[in-house]
Amino acid sequence: MAWSPALYLKFEDERTRPARDLLAQVPDLPDGVAFDLGCGPGNSTELIRDRFPEATLSGLDSDENMLVAAAKRLPGVTFEKADLANWVPPAGAALFYGNAVFQWLPNHLTIFERLMAALASGGTLAVQMPDNLGEPSHLLMEETARSPAFTDVFAGKTIRRNPMPSPATYVECLAPQAAGIEVWHTIYYHRLANAEAIVEWVKGTGLRPYLDAVPEDKRDAFVADYTDRIRAAYPAMSDGKVLLRFPRLFIVAVRA
Ligand SMILES: C[S@@+](CC[C@H](N)C(=O)[O-])C[C@H]1O[C@@H](n2cnc3c(N)ncnc32)[C@H](O)[C@@H]1O
Repeated sequence: MAWSPALYLKFEDERTRPARDLLAQVPDLPDGVAFDLGCGPGNSTELIRDRFPEATLSGLDSDENMLVAAAKRLPGVTFEKADLANWVPPAGAALFYGNAVFQWLPNHLTIFERLMAALASGGTLAVQMPDNLGEPSHLLMEETARSPAFTDVFAGKTIRRNPMPSPATYVECLAPQAAGIEVWHTIYYHRLANAEAIVEWVKGTGLRPYLDAVPEDKRDAFVADYTDRIRAAYPAMSDGKVLLRFPRLFIVAVRA
């Protein structure tokens, strides 16, 4: 199923905040091209352009709809279709920035080594990935999929992403080529209107592979079942709103 820029951008402020927090830790760039990897609808690309207005900037994404939305938003920037799993980065780049994309690539440690090798000296690899597989929002997708109503649909299918490697694994992977590495977690608490808003949020990202696997005539039932579980796990506060707890892992490595 293709990505939906409109659905993704329903929570643009909340989704762009980690992009901003990541960029804030990127030092000044050497000469070379700055790449926004998994640029989506261009929200993260716009931040990079505003921070480094002099840099040559290029956005890459594998999704046609996202690229169309990004090009419309930033007519002066080059956007290209590429699958990061096998993209060969050009040598001498100033920045590889990937906000909320590498969690979709199970072999991202190998990709990070390749990106580090392609950076100019003093260039930066900056990455942010959701670390939320252990949160109710994601555990309940799996619980719904394995519930009796959907056992047949998901029999023999593995949808859940692999757990992320430890922070130490990332440091070990990047250290041989790095002059400096920062790794940290931030836990965001997003105040959303209600349980349905949490479901809308994940429909734009983590729930997509589950919905892709469910036949169309069962999709509404799947969403309804999942929503009931979310409602129980994220009780309304006194103003009726809910808090979506959202841990994210950040990595910033500067090339030696
Ligand atoms: C969650 S969005 C992030 C968008 C933006 N970077 C931001 O900060 O909000 C993830 C993007 O990664 C793209 N993506 C997923 N897998 C990819 C791959 N293998 N190669 C390139 N892009 C990919 C998706 O198409 C989507 O636009």
